Amino acid sequence: MLCNKRILLGIGGGIAVYRVAELARLLVKQGAEVRCVMTRSACEFVTPLTFEALTGNSVHTRLFDLVGDNASMGHIELARWADAIIIAPATAGVLARIAHGIADDLLSTIMLVSEAPVLLAPAMNHSMWSNAATRHNTALLRERGMHITGPAAGILACGEEGAGRLSEPEDILAALLPLLTPPALAGQRWVINAGPTAEAWDGVRILTNRASGTLGALLASQAAIMGARVTLIAGPGTPATITDVERIPVESADAMLAACLQAAAGATVFVGTAAVSDFRFTRPVSGKIKRGSTGQMVVELTANPDIIATVAHMHDRPCRVIAFAAEAEKHIEHGRKKLAAKGVDAIVANDISNMGSHAGGGWWLTPDHEAELHSSNKQAFADAIIHQIMKLEE
Ligand SMILES: Cc1cc2nc3c(=O)[nH]c(=O)nc-3n(C[C@H](O)[C@H](O)[C@H](O)COP(=O)(O)O)c2cc1C
Repeated sequence: MLCNKRILLGIGGGIAVYRVAELARLLVKQGAEVRCVMTRSACEFVTPLTFEALTGNSVHTRLFDLVGDNASMGHIELARWADAIIIAPATAGVLARIAHGIADDLLSTIMLVSEAPVLLAPAMNHSMWSNAATRHNTALLRERGMHITGPAAGILACGEEGAGRLSEPEDILAALLPLLTPPALAGQRWVINAGPTAEAWDGVRILTNRASGTLGALLASQAAIMGARVTLIAGPGTPATITDVERIPVESADAMLAACLQAAAGATVFVGTAAVSDFRFTRPVSGKIKRGSTGQMVVELTANPDIIATVAHMHDRPCRVIAFAAEAEKHIEHGRKKLAAKGVDAIVANDISNMGSHAGGGWWLTPDHEAELHSSNKQAFADAIIHQIMKLEE
């Protein structure tokens, strides 16, 4: 399974080091060439000799030992050598140093050099794991596209119970495999719009809606993780994505349309998740409109451009254009009408109750196909939608 794959196994100083010996053995058994880098603390728990015996390679422990004529590989070469990096156990200390770019030992320095996919397997006391600093550090690492497996919950080495156990070596291996296969969306360019739009009435008031932008942001991150080059045109409040996603913040429907047309030209896929305001104020003003004394205010609205239909009819239109239909009832019937009217390749019909909530799920509709997407949350919904889009390409 891992024939000719070069795995750099970074080992932090936690009690779970002894279980990483089993992981090293498994990787070698699968045909990988494994080189280990141990932190100074890791060597307090298990000697490098254990990993040398298991991998057949000398273990690297000190940055400055790699300098000079006798060194077989410097830290830069070691970082470039790896097809993938696993860090197990990823201690709270290692996570913090990588998250903040602190290059004060061999492992953390390699992490600043390497561009290989990274799998982190944290293990620590449950309080260390739930500490705000560790949570913040792991969130940063995830945002940068690093993969995290575990920790599992159970009785910990310290005798306390909670989340903090190193994932089983077999589970770490299973999480590694997808990182070594060529990304499914490599070479593709995806453009996604997300969130609500905000139409100015005057200098302080806006017309907007309840969309959160969560689904669009999740789709953008997931497509980028799967290898696509992704641009997210993000309405106000759209959540953060992994840093690989190019983000273009916009407010009004007009600004969103302009950004979409520019980004979507020649793209592989366009996904229109944004809840674009159907109307804008006909005569917005720059100051602040006074309350007045009549007890009534009549305003005139003008229809906004239809972004998804405009993108679907561009002359250098994306290969696939996918629209969303948020409906209160007759989801499939209304979705099918929209599919025909907009000239898109597929519609994701979903219930308006999904908007602004964690709920996911809906219907995938193409001219000749219909599938219900049962998803308990928005991440699962995003995964299911990407899966359907990939099937369109086949
Ligand atoms: C007996 C013992 C067990 C420890 N187990 C862990 C652990 O499981 N996870 C962890 O993050 N730190 C653990 N620590 C603390 C780390 O060893 C310590 O933070 C160290 O500085 C980590 O160094 P490193 O991150 O460079 O490997 C343990 C310390 C001791 C003394």
